[in-house]
Amino acid sequence: MKLWGGRFSGQTDEYANKFHSSIAFDKRLYKHDINGSMAYAEMLGRQGIIKNEEAALIIKNLQEILCDIEKGTLEIDPAAEDIHTFVESQLVTRIGDAGKRLHTGRSRNDQVALDMRMYVKEEIDGICALIVRLLEALLEAAKNSTDVIMPGFTHLQKAQPVTLAHHILAYFEMFRRDYERLRGCRKRTDVMPLGSGALASTSYPLDRQFLKERLGFADITANSLDAVSDRDFCIEFVSCLSLVMMHLSRFCEELILWSTDAFAFIEISDCYATGSSIMPQKKNPDMAELIRGKTGRVYGSLAGLLTMMKGLPLSYNKDMQEDKEAVFDAADTVKMSLSVFCGMFQTLEFNIKRMYESALGGYTNATDAADWLVKKGLTFREAHEIAGKLVLYAIKKNVRLEELTLQELKKESELFDDTFYEAVSVEKCIEVRALPGGPSPAAMAQAIKDAQKYLENIR
Ligand code: ARG
Repeated sequence: MKLWGGRFSGQTDEYANKFHSSIAFDKRLYKHDINGSMAYAEMLGRQGIIKNEEAALIIKNLQEILCDIEKGTLEIDPAAEDIHTFVESQLVTRIGDAGKRLHTGRSRNDQVALDMRMYVKEEIDGICALIVRLLEALLEAAKNSTDVIMPGFTHLQKAQPVTLAHHILAYFEMFRRDYERLRGCRKRTDVMPLGSGALASTSYPLDRQFLKERLGFADITANSLDAVSDRDFCIEFVSCLSLVMMHLSRFCEELILWSTDAFAFIEISDCYATGSSIMPQKKNPDMAELIRGKTGRVYGSLAGLLTMMKGLPLSYNKDMQEDKEAVFDAADTVKMSLSVFCGMFQTLEFNIKRMYESALGGYTNATDAADWLVKKGLTFREAHEIAGKLVLYAIKKNVRLEELTLQELKKESELFDDTFYEAVSVEKCIEVRALPGGPSPAAMAQAIKDAQKYLENIR
């Protein structure tokens, strides 16, 4: 069935028909579409635009269509133009004329805007729940690793010692921001567009407030032209998802590095690794690599959406049908990635000894050597120079700074004494970084408390 046959005398070319059909992907909106239509029918009845009995009949049959689809007894026709057409034609098949009144004062343009907003809101809720799960896992791991010392890196070169808890809580912050961003996006998505018609609203006395309430929206859209041509919420959603993927991808990159023989900081569980068809010894971090790879796919969706929208004159244009696959794919990808990542993270084992030993190398205490000299009265620049010379000397000798004798130290500065050795131990280096946001046990205890409180508030 076509919803627009009257004006046409010729048939749509068969291939063009397939080309413009969106049923293959928008069929997943059946539930949102039907729920939207049930509320719409109820409102039409209440407003006396259709008879109450007709409204009731429509609602009953829409409910049955929904059940039939869900049970699998009604197959969504792959030849339909889109999900809106399919549902409406089913309704007309079942109840005839009453079904033909459902679309009074409505356009597929405001209908699809509604469906997409309902879908995005639902996806945001699901994704936020997954993020909360991950935040919980991160916090748990952080609590268990406040005394696990590891090297912190800049330029992927060992820089200064930190703790594993500090490192993990860095990701907690990233995913916390992701959560907040998605909540913000949800607020802007939570606006009900029905009543905008095709573009210029409608002359029927629709009750938009009723629709808003019935469909669980916070507000109604303010401008009908904007309402049918706005896909900001889709773009913002996929943009939020891109950041989620970017954060997952960075973490994955670290897990990949950490699981190498060179780092050996972690062992990924067998449940989240794969082998090689030729090299019997291999254990590959495929899941982490795939998440990293799929990040590109989500960015692609974002770039696609932005580009699709950039040249569109007001208001609705068919280009906008292209929003769906991008949004659906991004949401699916993020959900899978978050789930897999969470499982992988919760089952991996940290090689604490190896992390500690790694923190001892690479002169990660050189800053603290300089800071010690500053306490003895030197300017930081003078102290930096001396510490640098000591590092150079120690590299040549292939020893750590704290393995240099007092005599060797004194060659660079007379200020050195025995207290130097304790001051540059990795434990001390961490303990003295006690500012809010730093790795010291005291600062970490506070950070963990704050994180805990945050989770309690959003749960
Ligand atoms: N399948 C269409 C979409 O996703 C529904 C809206 C069609 N509206 C129209 N005027 N052709 O955008």
